[in-house]
Amino acid sequence: MNMGGPAKVEDTGDFLSRLFHDGDLIPLPFQSYMAPLIARRRTPKIEEQYAKIGGGSPILKWTREQGAGMVKILDELSPSTAPHKPYVAFRYTNPLTEECIEEMKRDGVKRAIAFTQYPQYSCSTTGSSLNEMYRQLKAKGEENGITWSVIDRWPTHPGLVEAIAQNIEKSLLTYPEAERSSVVLLFSAHSLPMSVVNRGDPYPPEVAATVHAVMARLGNQNPYRTVWQSQVGPSAWLGPQTSDAIKGYAKKGVNNMLLVPIAFTSDHIETLFELDLEYLEEAKEMGLTGVKRSESLNGSPVFIRALADIAAEHLKKGSAVSTQMMLRCPGCTNETCGQAKEYFHNQTVEPVQVQA
Ligand code: FES
Repeated sequence: MNMGGPAKVEDTGDFLSRLFHDGDLIPLPFQSYMAPLIARRRTPKIEEQYAKIGGGSPILKWTREQGAGMVKILDELSPSTAPHKPYVAFRYTNPLTEECIEEMKRDGVKRAIAFTQYPQYSCSTTGSSLNEMYRQLKAKGEENGITWSVIDRWPTHPGLVEAIAQNIEKSLLTYPEAERSSVVLLFSAHSLPMSVVNRGDPYPPEVAATVHAVMARLGNQNPYRTVWQSQVGPSAWLGPQTSDAIKGYAKKGVNNMLLVPIAFTSDHIETLFELDLEYLEEAKEMGLTGVKRSESLNGSPVFIRALADIAAEHLKKGSAVSTQMMLRCPGCTNETCGQAKEYFHNQTVEPVQVQA
């Protein structure tokens, strides 16, 4: 489960329209009226950005590749539940959650794991995907057709941490040896409106947990900060914004900064356009020569192995949901959150013997 991205520039309008219709992500007054208006206004600018990164988002390609690699390993780790098959459920573009359910139905699937591809849980991302899965299953009368369990977060899984750390180490090698340990690592995650943070969303501390684990794996050799990107609109968002952090450190005389995408598992517009084309260009214009970005996880074999391990560990545990998933945000007023959590919680699954 992931948000998805327009595969072609022409899909951008539909993608944005679905995104602004999502009250779990952006609750708007008069949502069904406002969403198409905002989407239409933003479409030309975002279309241009997708055109500049090669004509569309690579997220489907990477999700399919990661899924195919994962199930191959999972078949070996958990032969009693094999063969496994990956399905993609995107929130805002094809294949949408409803198409995913239809495909599973055609295949006669009886047992499924809703596996979020956001390592850190936010009610705006994983929460929205789970709410949508629940709504679609209910709308189709398919609540009882499949037994579900949920992998809702994995911010400090050692395989995830290892894959990110390896990409950082690879990038650090491109700096002169004498400068390597002083390169400032800027872990960049998608920001959230402060209204969501103050509602009690678990995402900021979970991002911090990933950063902490990666730094520990790297031996805490480099100075670092967690920074936040992609703010939109005039309301207050969690900061510091990535681009402000680069400018702030530039003013303090820092030349070497490595941007590390920490919250998405593959390339997408926020890495390929925002980090690579906007911020790295801005840095060059400021005369900085040492600002670079570490690779996204994409086809990393270490990461794909991690996905299989996470799934196998989940099967071994035999619980439908995590304890943490069942706790709603203290400020949550969205009834669907409670209903979706209850639905997944009420599934009956048994522990499986796996080789992990
Ligand atoms: Fe967090 Fe509903 S908004 S549980």
